[in-house]
Amino acid sequence: MTVRSVRERSTFTTALASIAVGFGLAWSTSAAAQPAPDPLDVAEGMRLYRTKADCQTCHGWAADGRKMDTQMPDAPSLRTSRLGRAGIIYAIRCGRPGRGMPAFDRQAYKDAARCNNTTLADLQKNGQALTDPASTLQLREIEMIADFLFERVIGKGPMDHAKCVEYWGEDVDACRELAK
Ligand code: HEC
Repeated sequence: MTVRSVRERSTFTTALASIAVGFGLAWSTSAAAQPAPDPLDVAEGMRLYRTKADCQTCHGWAADGRKMDTQMPDAPSLRTSRLGRAGIIYAIRCGRPGRGMPAFDRQAYKDAARCNNTTLADLQKNGQALTDPASTLQLREIEMIADFLFERVIGKGPMDHAKCVEYWGEDVDACRELAK
């Protein structure tokens, strides 16, 4: 073997090693992007969903679209939402102007940079009414609601008796009507 081919081979090995390191890094960063949420954040997110933000009035307590208040607009089930975390957080922060979903960020459409460079004037021009939220939320609170949704709601299938008991922490009245 000539000196040159030895050097080539070692360059090849180094290249392979760096590809492996690259894969390792890519894997670990994507794993780090979705760490298991803190159970306390999930519980707080559920509380905010039901009380301060009152999402349940439109989406239902189980977030399955069975609204609690018949006067409220029909809202979709969040259990079958295909949005990723960023999409969920954006929907809560900026709402869906003209479609009945309130914007929960106090600065939404006031500071144009918050919601896709759109201002209140733009919404008015397009005839898109903005629904008022029960209460505005801090980004931290929105993140906890997202933690709750991803942990208990999105992609978890329809609500059944077992999930209901887990959701409420006990066999409450609302669970009795659900299939065992
Ligand atoms: C006043 C009624 C109302 C309230 C309160 C409300 N929503 Fe909505 N929400 C809607 C409607 C209506 C839509 C559908 C909008 C559309 O057609 O694009 C929607 C859409 C969404 C979506 C987008 C779903 C998807 O897959 O595209 C998310 C996420 C969402 N809501 C979460 C929430 C959360 C979390 C809260 C509480 C912080 C909340 N909503 C409060 C009415 C409401």
